[in-house]
Amino acid sequence: MTTAGTAPLGEALREARRVAFPPGEFVGQESFVTARQIRTLAHHGGIVAGTRVVDLCCGVAGPGLLLVGDYECQYLGVDADADSIALAREGAASAGLRADFEVARVPPLPAGRFDVVVLLETMLAFRAKDVLLQAIASALHGGGRFVFTVEEGPPLNGLERERMPASETVWPVTLHDLGSALEELGLRTVWTEDWTRSHADTARALAASYATLLATVPPGPDRDAVAGLVDSHRLWAEWLGAGRMRKFAVVAERLAASGVDGG
Ligand SMILES: C[S@@+](CC[C@H](N)C(=O)[O-])C[C@H]1O[C@@H](n2cnc3c(N)ncnc32)[C@H](O)[C@@H]1O
Repeated sequence: MTTAGTAPLGEALREARRVAFPPGEFVGQESFVTARQIRTLAHHGGIVAGTRVVDLCCGVAGPGLLLVGDYECQYLGVDADADSIALAREGAASAGLRADFEVARVPPLPAGRFDVVVLLETMLAFRAKDVLLQAIASALHGGGRFVFTVEEGPPLNGLERERMPASETVWPVTLHDLGSALEELGLRTVWTEDWTRSHADTARALAASYATLLATVPPGPDRDAVAGLVDSHRLWAEWLGAGRMRKFAVVAERLAASGVDGG
């Protein structure tokens, strides 16, 4: 599930996320990245005023609106979930920010070329990463940058799949396989950082916050949804804490002559 939810559950979930982050680090993200980490990625991605950015799987665009507000980039957010995009539009309007949004499932990517493609905390959901990465490489002009986070590790085994709620959206990748795929597409890694420890801490804090919320939700579909979040976040805290899964931030630059699409 997304964590946008339906009002009023959506608002309760947002509040649960807010209290889980240290002061100043919550910007509406539905993930483990902090505001500081989003700015770090923006810096290494070379996002400045006027940079054409497409934010894939933007959700309610907490990170995206931080980018627009801080850097005045030209921003297009894309998400398959119409409710999330409606909230993203509301957020932009109430903050007085210029941002475009599209409801769409990727791949394919929106038409056109971009300076930066952002994919935060959602690489995991794509089983066919090669198809996604090919579309991303084609959407970047030479020198353009792909800015993303990735859940690193071997595939889930049967028991792990049983333990993880919504495991049909959990497809980690090894650094070796990711590196080969990027290289084949002419995407050269220019910066990377290991965020495993900080994301384990965030997963733990979110699990605790969702558990507090769970105690207030009566039996029914909302309660089941929150219970799923508690379980999945506990498992993420366990896996990241034990090194079963690692989390990396990566910036890769498209080589001018990558031959991906002749562009
Ligand atoms: C974990 S949230 C991350 C949202 C945002 N990037 C952030 O960090 O706050 C994942 C989002 O990806 C969206 N999503 C998953 N698969 C998608 C796809 N194939 N195309 C478009 N959106 C997708 C979901 O609807 C959800 O809003």
